[in-house]
Amino acid sequence: MEPMDFAVQQMSINKKKYLELCEALWEHNRRYYVENAPIISDYEYDQLLEEVAHIEKVHPEWIYSGSPTQRVGGAVSEKFPVVKHKIPMLSLANSYSSEEIKDYLKRMEKLLHKQSLVYFCELKMDGIALSVIYKNGLFAQAITRGNGREGEDVTANVKTILSLPLQLKGDPPPFLEVRGEVFMPIEVFVHFNIEKEEKGENLWANPRNAAGGALKLLDPKEVDKRKLAVFFYAIAQGVEPLVSQSDAFTAMKGYGLPVIETTASAKNFDEIWCFAKRIEKKRSTLPYQIDGIVVKVDDLAAQKKLGATGKSYRYAIAYKFAPEQAETVIHEITIQVGRTGVLTPVAELEPVSLAGSTISRATLHNEDEVKKKGIRKGDTVVIEKGGDVIPKVVSVVMQKRSKLSRPWKMITNCPACGTEVVRKKGEVAVRCPNTLNCPAQSLRRLIFFVSKQGMDIDHMGEKVVRSLAGLELVKTFSDIYRLEANALFKLPNFKEKSVKNLLTSIEKSKKVSLGRFIHAIGIPFVGIETAELLAETGGNIQTIARMKEEELLKIEGIGEKMAESIVTFFNDQAHLEEITQLLELGVEPEAQKVKGFEEHVFKGKTFVLTGGLEYYTRDQARSLIKERGGKVLSSVSKTTDYVLVGEDPGLKYDKAKRLGVKMLDEADFRAML
Ligand code: IVH
Repeated sequence: MEPMDFAVQQMSINKKKYLELCEALWEHNRRYYVENAPIISDYEYDQLLEEVAHIEKVHPEWIYSGSPTQRVGGAVSEKFPVVKHKIPMLSLANSYSSEEIKDYLKRMEKLLHKQSLVYFCELKMDGIALSVIYKNGLFAQAITRGNGREGEDVTANVKTILSLPLQLKGDPPPFLEVRGEVFMPIEVFVHFNIEKEEKGENLWANPRNAAGGALKLLDPKEVDKRKLAVFFYAIAQGVEPLVSQSDAFTAMKGYGLPVIETTASAKNFDEIWCFAKRIEKKRSTLPYQIDGIVVKVDDLAAQKKLGATGKSYRYAIAYKFAPEQAETVIHEITIQVGRTGVLTPVAELEPVSLAGSTISRATLHNEDEVKKKGIRKGDTVVIEKGGDVIPKVVSVVMQKRSKLSRPWKMITNCPACGTEVVRKKGEVAVRCPNTLNCPAQSLRRLIFFVSKQGMDIDHMGEKVVRSLAGLELVKTFSDIYRLEANALFKLPNFKEKSVKNLLTSIEKSKKVSLGRFIHAIGIPFVGIETAELLAETGGNIQTIARMKEEELLKIEGIGEKMAESIVTFFNDQAHLEEITQLLELGVEPEAQKVKGFEEHVFKGKTFVLTGGLEYYTRDQARSLIKERGGKVLSSVSKTTDYVLVGEDPGLKYDKAKRLGVKMLDEADFRAML
């Protein structure tokens, strides 16, 4: 493929026509995806595209990387090459109050010795940061932020993004590097999640995770299906001289790049605050997720002068919005029985739209929480969605309470099996003690067993498990490994292909790490960290099953409650028999040892994780630490070596701070890896 650095006049008429056609297609593409104002129909667009494809068939030597036919051409990669950023991709300081913005303005004015300054306000897109390079006007490379100094080359994946021009308009510089945010439009996110729910697959937590996951897919054809989009917010290198941030936006728009849609110039706090409040109101109607606004010193020379503090630029500040809230009515308070018998009150809500999805249920956590908040059936409540999928009830709107409503009471018998419930002294949880025979507990255990956190059986989501249990095809874990094709055909909508897929996934799941297996079988109080500690210490399931309480207590990270629960679990003959059955049916839990990290800095160190990470799932971070000889524990103590702190960290962060434990952010962690 050759770049388009030749003079059009010297070419034969056909080649000239070919290039003109390509340019016309780009212009239509830009009008459609960037401006939302197409001037031809989809049919006409397809006709033009077909014409280009036809010419390329006859003249394959003319095809160049900017041709509109070259969007989804990349090969399937094994992993993404790591590339150094020429200019580091730094981050932004966050603020949450008007006071913090006022402080920021004072700081800027003081540092720049000015009485007043012009600021540029933008939306803070809630996606994945990206650096994109154009050479001679053609899309050349896309790199993720990574640790800020180096990121992953995701060029082939980003090339599939339809709003990203592969060829720039106007007169772009020979080298242009722009920075922006890749995101999944809410409509696409909702569409996929509905489809996932129907297939019984795990849902994506939010559009940001969905976009991050998509960018890391190894096959660009799969990325193409995820319908990602991009907005740019800065020029990192290439266009000189630019005077202001607003100029940069104008320049990017001139090249046909999609830029953050809503921006404003502001001269003082009041104007910035007005923008912030206007956007906050509009937030729920936007077709993409934002989590705040970004305020930047408009003058680019001043931006440069201000420099950076550690990992953030000084010239800008993010003002983050509080989580979105909505008001709705609780029609009913139902009880959900968990896999360990815990009864959780759940608010069944009048469906309400919140942060890009429709909410019809919210957890009320436990009996005490409902009492503390005074929540009753029929109440109008305020619900909120943080960074996570599970919405929570924040408060009751007392003015709207009906005079007829009565305080809620926890039930006395399990709704699934009728057994009298128990609440142990000192525990908030109310449980159904009928562990083995309660159908609700069995179902929950099965759902957890096959989930990503357990045996990770693809194509076997909650819906499928429910159907299997409903048809009495599966009662125990081992029944899953006894399933045969003729039984699976009884499942709703299961045909040749779905049956084959499911059987293949079941077979594949037999090879499982010992830690995951222990997690999957659902020992009360044993989370993945403890399961992995057990796997490491015991080496095989038989040894672990025979461990005494004293031995277990010697393992760092296992306390009395857990040790007692583990021993009780393995003292139960039914559990032992079930494990034997699983092994006989070919499940092979194996302790894992990874070679090559004998002398790693993580060796012998203990870690605690808190908050969401941008580039790894919790499971991945845990494996990375363990592969290098480190340990991951669930709670912080004085002896913890490192706390890895992600976005929105929890109480572990405060505790670590109090105890003076060393904290790592994701960039530090990556550097140490
Ligand atoms: S400016 C290039 N502007 O927020 C200077 N960042 O830590 C630093 N983000 O993931 C970023 N919208 O990608 C800037 N209008 C905006 C933004 C924005 C979203 C992201 C950025 C990064 C995070 C900042």
